[in-house]
This record gives sequence, C-alpha cells and structure tokens, in this order.
Amino acid sequence: MVDSMIDQMLEKAKIAMKNAYCPYSHFSVGACVLGDDGNMYAGCNIENASYRVTQCAESSAVGGMVSHGSKRIKKVVVVADSEDIVTPCGACRQQLRELCDGNVEVHMFNNKGDHDVMTMDELLVKSFGPEFLKE
Ligand code: THU
Repeated sequence: MVDSMIDQMLEKAKIAMKNAYCPYSHFSVGACVLGDDGNMYAGCNIENASYRVTQCAESSAVGGMVSHGSKRIKKVVVVADSEDIVTPCGACRQQLRELCDGNVEVHMFNNKGDHDVMTMDELLVKSFGPEFLKE
C-alpha cells in the first residue's frame, strides 16, 4: 500500500475496471485522476467494434474530471486486470500531460497490487504541450 490517497484512488479505479467494456481484448483497465477540486474521477476502457474508436480508461477518467469542471490533474492511478503492471498508452500520456504538471505522479498497478510510480515527465520526455501554442 502506498498512501491513503492512492489507496482510495486505487479502490475507485478497481470499481471502474470491473465495469470495463472490453469484449475484444478482454483486457480490463481502470483509472482514477485526482482533480484540483479535490475530487477523484474514475473511468474504464470502452471498446468498439470499430477498434480504433476504443476509449482508454485514462481518457474516461479525464473526461469525467473535465465534465465536472476541473481542468488540472494532481495524481493519476491506473490498474489493469493483468499480471503485468499496466502503463498508459502513448495517446493517454499525451492526454494526461495536457492537464498536469510534469512532476505529477502516475501510479501503475497490476491485479496483484504490485505497483510502480513515475512522473508525467518521465513517462513522456520532452513532450509537446499547451505552452508551445501560447503567444
Ligand atoms: N487500455 C487502457 O484503457 N489504458 C491503457 O493505458 C492501456 C490500454 C485499454 C485499451 C483497450 O481497451 C485494451 O486496454 C487493450 O489495449
């Protein structure tokens, strides 16, 4: 166990993971983001018969957060029903990076509770972001 905030986020991510719609991969993923409003937003992966339309768990969680009015991520938890510790896909790294600082921790879990943690900057080095587009 990491700390009580991460424990709570992991529990929410696991509940979401149980709701994953993944009839094609059978790879259930749950995610939870902590918004700067202090609330936790969880989501799961949602697959589609047109495979590329699939939405990742991180994307679902971020969608919930933004829909509720928070625009900044303070912590991220990702869990998969897998023996391997899941890491966010490239597209999700970019989506998370848009809304968080480089030092934000991304906590990654497998289905046995094994855990890894990396910062956003470590997961996506020399990344492109909104500040490049500011005048
Ligand atoms: N998936 C996620 O939801 N998040 C990740 O970080 C990795 C992959 C999902 C997408 C797809 O539904 C399944 O896992 C297999 O790729």
